[in-house]
Amino acid sequence: MNKTTAAAQVLDGNAIATAIKAEVAIDIERLRAQGIQPGLTVVMVGNHPASEVYVRNKVKTSAELGIASELLTPPGSVTTEEMLQLIEKLNAREDVDGILIQLPLPAHVDAKRLLEAVSPEKDVDGFHPVNVGRLQSGQPALVPCTPAGIIETLRRTGIPIAGKHAVVVGRSDIVGKPMAMLLLHENATVTICHSKTKDLEGFCRSADILVAAIGKAGIITPEMVRPGAVLIDVGMNRIQSQAEFDRFFAGDAKREAGFKKNGSVLMGDIDPHAFALASYYTPVPGGVGPLTIAMLMASTVRAARLRRGLPVST
Ligand code: GUN
Repeated sequence: MNKTTAAAQVLDGNAIATAIKAEVAIDIERLRAQGIQPGLTVVMVGNHPASEVYVRNKVKTSAELGIASELLTPPGSVTTEEMLQLIEKLNAREDVDGILIQLPLPAHVDAKRLLEAVSPEKDVDGFHPVNVGRLQSGQPALVPCTPAGIIETLRRTGIPIAGKHAVVVGRSDIVGKPMAMLLLHENATVTICHSKTKDLEGFCRSADILVAAIGKAGIITPEMVRPGAVLIDVGMNRIQSQAEFDRFFAGDAKREAGFKKNGSVLMGDIDPHAFALASYYTPVPGGVGPLTIAMLMASTVRAARLRRGLPVST
């Protein structure tokens, strides 16, 4: 007998981000009415074309929502000591609620030292060891924006997490590890897989919720996906070869036009053929990306509230 499966539903990151930003904007209005102006300072070192796009987007979105934002761009030759002095100044400034040091930093700069120098109260990225510890121990923390956005997406869509097997592929400090911790706090049974995992396929196939954040184009193939799974694709990879394009996107006229025009196309860690098997999935682009910026805005307002002892949502 033919068994029909429900069509996979797209988790529209742009639509969810718009809803989050609208709520944040209302909260900012409330704070401003009390004489509190949330402020975000973004620091981008040197020239990094990929970062520039992200950073300008962060600053632009802040302005749209009523956050006083500022972009500082020290030269690529800046020393660790000079950066530490800059961070000290930002830590001391009353008008700065959030400090974001855009990564990657040049190799000669001690990134760990800088991230530890940011006041935990202003660490809107949630990268400081104090916030990592607070997240782990279930205390109010500033949390990395991408994993926070993914939890927000699951919640807002009504996708159950408790009791589900969540498999996180990737163990980065920015996404994989905090993602696993947040899913655990939502009572998922969590497995973290990585580049050395044996039988990645077996783990992935048993996932109810699969989060791919390893940075390898299309590494999650349809054979690795359980029908009905929720697929979250954090990957953002640029593919440039015709062979790869044909493997992942043959017959996709819209992407082909983009590929011909630009010589490359963006894709995630999940082979798009797998999406048809899912109950829900995040596309690339237009899935997780917009959520990260929306959650940065929410994190800045959260930092502004926490620093003043005002209440925050969990
Ligand atoms: N570079 C890429 N993603 C991020 C992020 O979430 N925060 C910072 N600070 N840098 C990044």
